Formats: sequence, C-alpha cells, structure tokens
Amino acid sequence: IGAERKMKKIYITTPIYYVNDKPHIGHAYTTILADVINRYYKLIGYKTFFLTGTDEHGLKVQQAALKNNQTPHMHVDTYVKKFKNIWKKLNIEYDYFIRTTDKKHIQQVQHVLQFLYDQGEIYLDEYEGLYSISEERFVTEKEAEEGNFREIKKIKEKNYFFKMSKYQKKLVNYIQNNSEFIKPESRRNEILGFLKKPLNDLCISRPKSRLEWGIEIPFDSNYVTYVWFDALLNYITAIGWNQDNKKFNSCWPADYHLMGKDIITTHAVYWPTMLLACNIKLPKTLLAHGWWLTDENKMSKSIGNIIKPLDLADEFGVDSLRYYLMRNMVLGQDASFSKKLFIKRYNADLANDYGNVINRITILINKNFNGLCPEPGQYQNKELSVIKLVKSIVEEVDKNMQNLKIHDALETIFTLIREINKYLEIRQPWQLVKDNKNPKSPAATCLYVSAEVLRISSLLLTPFIPEKAEITLNSLSQNNMGNDLTFGLLIPNTPVKHPGSLFPRIDE
Ligand code: MSP
Repeated sequence: IGAERKMKKIYITTPIYYVNDKPHIGHAYTTILADVINRYYKLIGYKTFFLTGTDEHGLKVQQAALKNNQTPHMHVDTYVKKFKNIWKKLNIEYDYFIRTTDKKHIQQVQHVLQFLYDQGEIYLDEYEGLYSISEERFVTEKEAEEGNFREIKKIKEKNYFFKMSKYQKKLVNYIQNNSEFIKPESRRNEILGFLKKPLNDLCISRPKSRLEWGIEIPFDSNYVTYVWFDALLNYITAIGWNQDNKKFNSCWPADYHLMGKDIITTHAVYWPTMLLACNIKLPKTLLAHGWWLTDENKMSKSIGNIIKPLDLADEFGVDSLRYYLMRNMVLGQDASFSKKLFIKRYNADLANDYGNVINRITILINKNFNGLCPEPGQYQNKELSVIKLVKSIVEEVDKNMQNLKIHDALETIFTLIREINKYLEIRQPWQLVKDNKNPKSPAATCLYVSAEVLRISSLLLTPFIPEKAEITLNSLSQNNMGNDLTFGLLIPNTPVKHPGSLFPRIDE
C-alpha cells in the first residue's frame, strides 16, 4: 500500500453539471459524496485528486441563455459562479473545476475527434429518426412510445457517427471480468442487460443549423459535436491528457466516477467505448447513486419541487446537511428527503450522541483538571475493552469506506461514540472526581480514555462534518498530532477547552 500511496493519486470525479439552472439537492448530494470520499482518503494518507465542473454546451444551455436574454457566454459565466459559490458554502475541497468552455478542453476534444476521424472510427451517414430535443439525442420508436420524452421530432439529416458498435463485445467482456467496474450490482446487471441487444453507432454531431452552442467538428465546420461526447472527455482533459503526461499518469485511470443512476448508460457505454477507441485505459469504478425523492416524485429541475440545499444549510448548518445526506441514503438506492427526518436524525445523532459526549468530557475536564488533559494511570478491563473496540472500529470504518458503504461507515463511527457515553455511565467520572482528582487516579484515567476516543471519533468524522469535527479536535489540542487514528496519542497536560454548544437541539 505504501508504494501505491506515493505513486498514484486517488482520482475522484463528479458529473459536470449543466448550467441551465441553479444547483439543487441532486447536484449537492453527488458533490458532497465525492468530497467525503476524497477527504477520507486524504485522512488515511493517500494523495488524491478531486474534479468537479460544469457542462456548458448543448441545446439546454443555449435555450436557457435565450430565455434569460443573454448570450450563451454571459449566461454560463453567471451560472458557473452559482455553482462555485455553493461548493464553497458546502465546504467542498475540490482540486480542479473544469469548464467545457475552457480553451484547453475544446482543443483536446477536437484533437480526439480528429484522431478518431483519421483512424476511420468516425464516418458520415444520412440518418432518419426520432429526435428528442430534451434529451438531445435520437431515440428509438419504443422509447418515444413509452412517452418519457417531451418534444420529439422526426429528423432526416446527414451526421457523423462514432463506430460504437464495434466495441460492444470488448465492453461486455470488460464488464464481466471487472466486478468493480459498475456499482452497485443492480446497475451492472442493468447495463449488461442493455448490452444484450445490438448496440448502435453513436451520432456525435449536430448541424449548426439546429445547434450552434457547441464545439466545432474540426473536419467539418457545418457541425458541432454532441454535448455528451464533449462532456465525457472532461475526465481526461482536466488532468492534462495529451499535454502533461506526468500529471495524467498520476491520476488516470480514475478510481471513482460518481453519478446519479439516470446517467449511468452514458458513462458505462459511451465513455468506455470512446476510451477503447482512443487506446486509453478504462476507469476503475463507476458508482451510480439513487435519487432523493420528495412526495414520491423525483426532485428535478423539470418538475420544479426543488429543496434548496443552501436553505437547509443556512437554517441548520452545513455539517448537519452533509451528515443527513450521507447518513440517510443507502448508496445505490433512492431515499426520501424530508425535513422531519432531517431534524430527527440531527437530534438523535448529532445533538444527543456526539454533542453529549463532547460536552460531558470537556466540561468535566475543565471543572476538575484545570482545563488540562488528565494523565491516565493503570488501565482496567473496562478501559482495555474500549481501547480494543477503537481498533476494530477504525478497521471496520475503513472496510465500509472502501466498499462505498458510506451510511454504514457513519453508523460504525456512532457505535464508538455511543460506547463512550456508555463507558461514562458505567465509570461515572463525576462521582470518581469526588474521591480523587490526582494524576493517574481512576477519574483521570477515565477522562483520558474518553477524551482520546472522542479525538479518534472526531477524526473519523472530519470527512463528513469537517467544520464541527475540526472545532472539536481543536478543543482537544489535536492540531499537533497529525491524523493518527491509533489510541494513546493525546498528550497529558495539553489544554482541553469546552467548544461551546456545537449541536443545539432542534424542536421537532
Ligand atoms: N451534464 C450532465 C452530466 C455530464 S457528466 C460527463 C448532467 N448534468 S446535470 O446537471 O443534469 O446533473 C445531474 C446530476 O445530478 C446527475 O448525477 C443526477 O443523477 C443528479 N441528480 C439530479 N437530481 C437528483 C436527485 N433528486 N437526487 C439525486 N441526484 C439527482 O446530467
């Protein structure tokens, strides 16, 4: 592991978001998830690269700009700011923000198009079919009948096609031989099912008469390229593909492409076949999460029942929102979003369990040990079993995180937090101090052990609730201890402060 940690960074991506509307809970969820995974890897000592950004071309954006009476350029600049602002607000620590209107990205997309054209992988053909304006692609008659699309037109025109079908067999083999490639299992089966039918070639051009706002096809100036062909390439153009080999090789292949289940096909079929045609390695894991539902409807821009993440973060704090989103969704499944459940979760876990432990320990140390970390004496069985538990919890959290069982990781951390509370109940340090407050006394030992376990739990929580976990760690003078998760590092006689009420109860 050591050597691997040095050589290759863990590379994590979010989808790049369309700038036709303001950021909503769906965008926030994927981005927070990526941030949590990224922060966790950093915590355990990996080098990482976390990419997010915006998908700025295509008809949807062109139409949104028109509606706002703006040029596409002005429109995208305004919306990019909204995305950047909200990521700052939600404490997202991305390493790079790619925009598909970046000059470098445009050049590289054109480079790929030209390369594939020269290799005979792209050809011109006349095609008549049903075109969905909302999806920006040709749809089959069956899809049209199922009625999932608005604005379907019959279109007959000349277009450029990428020989996607040629790679079908290779792709199926790859998916079958790499069980980690598409997660969860249900999505993997869905894609394998989809690939049982013959794959069509992919139409990768749009005539400028219909769409101007896109990247021009380098070998035919009458066309721009299909927005998905442009967008998917962001994952390699952002890390210097074909420009900065050192940077590219330190990141690629991507470890995690994160996305919602609605865009798994483009990522699991279009993207790998494009990479195969370019002789580039395939990403390690595509992770498709479910949808946040409200009133049993999908929360989306088109339906308009958007809960604004910023509002919740303003009302209850950024960490509380991050915590709820990570704790209440089983990765891969849908989850229903409700303010009631949000408050319930907050009160039970953060205000009660975590908040209580922080208060009890720091207040007792302040009252009885002059605000200095007490010096422990001999550990008894009770202490030894708590210390043993810490080790197994740290290992289990790691297993949960590696397996992308994010909600389980949180549940595991909270087992430890609840255990400190139980340990305090059993040892009753508030009674012990009445007998003896000397260094190495039972009271000192108990509070040392509790504070140390609080330090480790808080470190484990930093990826999820960075702000409050950091405050807690600072109140334990953790700053000078690095990110070590082994028991026994808290230094006796260093200051322990009461951080104030970090998680006030919310009325239900
Ligand atoms: N631009 C494309 C992605 C290109 S990636 C090369 C796109 N953009 S998007 O702005 O529509 O972002 C969609 C992302 O938000 C998807 O991952 C989608 O699943 C997610 N969500 C949108 N609404 C959602 C919920 N209500 N719940 C969870 N995620 C959902 O698609």
